[in-house]
Amino acid sequence: MVEIVRRLADLRSAVGGWRRQGLVSAVVPTMGALHDGHISLVQAALARADRVVVTIFVNPKQFNAATDLVNYPRAEASDIAKLETCGAHLLYLPAIEEIYPPGFATTVSVTGISEGLCGAFRPGHFDGVATVVAKLLLQTGAELAFFGEKDFQQVKVIERMVRDLDIPVEIVACPTVREADGLALSSRNLRLGAAEREQAPRLAAILFATADRLQAGAAVAATLEAASAEIIAAGFRTVEYLELRAESDLRPLDTLERPARLLVAAWLGETRLIDNVAVVRRGGD
Ligand code: PAJ
Repeated sequence: MVEIVRRLADLRSAVGGWRRQGLVSAVVPTMGALHDGHISLVQAALARADRVVVTIFVNPKQFNAATDLVNYPRAEASDIAKLETCGAHLLYLPAIEEIYPPGFATTVSVTGISEGLCGAFRPGHFDGVATVVAKLLLQTGAELAFFGEKDFQQVKVIERMVRDLDIPVEIVACPTVREADGLALSSRNLRLGAAEREQAPRLAAILFATADRLQAGAAVAATLEAASAEIIAAGFRTVEYLELRAESDLRPLDTLERPARLLVAAWLGETRLIDNVAVVRRGGD
C-alpha cells in the first residue's frame, strides 16, 4: 500500500522514522499525470533505496503561461493506482500552503547553466523549478533524489543548486524512456491530436539521425541548420532551439567534443516538445 500524506509534518515523521531504523530513503519529484518515464525513476529509486517517496505537485511558479498551468493534465486517481503497482512507499501530495506558505518570498535562482536553451524561451521557469525542488529536497530529507535526462538542463540546474547550497542529497539522473516509435514520454503528449501524435516521433528520429551525422564528422552549424529545416518539414510549427552542448556543463559547442548532447525544443501545433540525445564517443576513437 502506498501511504498518502498531504502535510509536511506527516512527511517528516514518516521519513524520520525510516532514518531512525537505518533505512535509506529516495525521493522522485513529479508533477503527476504519471507515465512510464516517471515509473522508471521510481524503479531506479527502489533499486538503490529502502523507501521511496514520490511527490506530486503542479508547481505554479515554473509555468510561463496561466493557460499552460490550467491545462496541465491532472490524474490523481490513476497516479495513485500506478504507484501502488510499482511499489512506491509514500506519496506526498502537498497542499499549496505546504510549499508556498502565506507571505512566501524566497526564490532560488541558479545562474549560468539555467540561461540559454529552455531558459531563454521560458523566463523564470528554472527559478520556479529550483525553488520548488530545493523545498521538496529539504522537506523530504531523502538521501537520494531521482530525475530524468528527458529534462537534461533541469538536471544540470538541480545538480548545481545542490552543490552550491550543500543540500545533503545525491542526485541520480536516469535515461529517457521512449514510446516504441521513439517519442520521448511526456505528460504533454496527452495534448497531441491524432495527426500530431503521428508526426511527433519525427523529432526524435531527426535528433538521432543528426547525432549520427555529427558522430561521422559532419560540420556542426550546417548539420544543425539542415536538421531544423527537416523538423519544420515534418510538420512542426517552430524550432525554438536545436543545439550541440558539452554534456558536463552545457557550454555551446561549434565543433564536436565528446561527450556532447544534442538538445531540441519545438512546437507541434499548440504543444511544446523537448528532447535530447547523447553524442558519445564512437567505438573506434
Ligand atoms: P515532471 O515533468 O512531472 O517530471 C518528473 C520527472 O520525471 C523529471 O525528473 C523528468 O525529467 C522525469 N521524466 C519525464 N519524462 C521522462 C521520460 N520520458 N523518461 C525519463 N524520465 C522522465 O520535471 C518536472 O516534473 C518538474 O520540473 C519537477 C522536477 C517535479 C519540479 O516541479
